[in-house]
Amino acid sequence: MGLQEKDTDIGDKFLVTKTDLDSYITYANSYFIDICGYSEQELIGKSHNVVRHPDMPKSIFKFLWKELQSGNDFWGYVKNSVKSGGHYWVLAHIIPNFNSAGTKIGYHSNRRLISDNKIQQIDDLYSKIRNQENQGGISAGEDFLQNFLTEKGVSYNEYILSI
Ligand SMILES: Cc1cc2nc3c(=O)[nH]c(=O)nc-3n(C[C@H](O)[C@H](O)[C@H](O)COP(=O)(O)O)c2cc1C
Repeated sequence: MGLQEKDTDIGDKFLVTKTDLDSYITYANSYFIDICGYSEQELIGKSHNVVRHPDMPKSIFKFLWKELQSGNDFWGYVKNSVKSGGHYWVLAHIIPNFNSAGTKIGYHSNRRLISDNKIQQIDDLYSKIRNQENQGGISAGEDFLQNFLTEKGVSYNEYILSI
């Protein structure tokens, strides 16, 4: 069962988490805590993959880490699991967090729920990537995504922000 609200107006809630450099959760706001079903105590100190949904292609997380480790922001659609067994879809924007000395100390993710129409498009793409990964490993998934973007003539970020 999905937790999305119906149709395009998904509301103004930003679901926020912060992590250290190894993606252990250091902060979660009340909206994130409410939707994921874990308590704050259960989340803090856990690896962020605690909310990973098995439908998420590995290639997308590989791309996420490549972008973050190159100093770029990451924009992407993510299906997250809920403790009770449900799920929800978000558009996530992850940025690095710096201390006052300018040293990178972790990451910060802002997410918003997305509409059913977007979910359909991205779910379709992710299931194709997943099929490729199941047959040919993660590189087959990455190749599929790259070919898909090349055919459309757009970059990854252009595609994400266009749907
Ligand atoms: C700030 C931040 C937020 C993240 N948020 C999520 C998230 O909401 N859901 C998720 O599955 N992974 C999220 N990740 C990525 C996870 O750290 C992890 O790479 C992913 O769940 C895949 O885990 P696995 O490779 O152990 O299967 C986030 C990472 C960072 C740095």
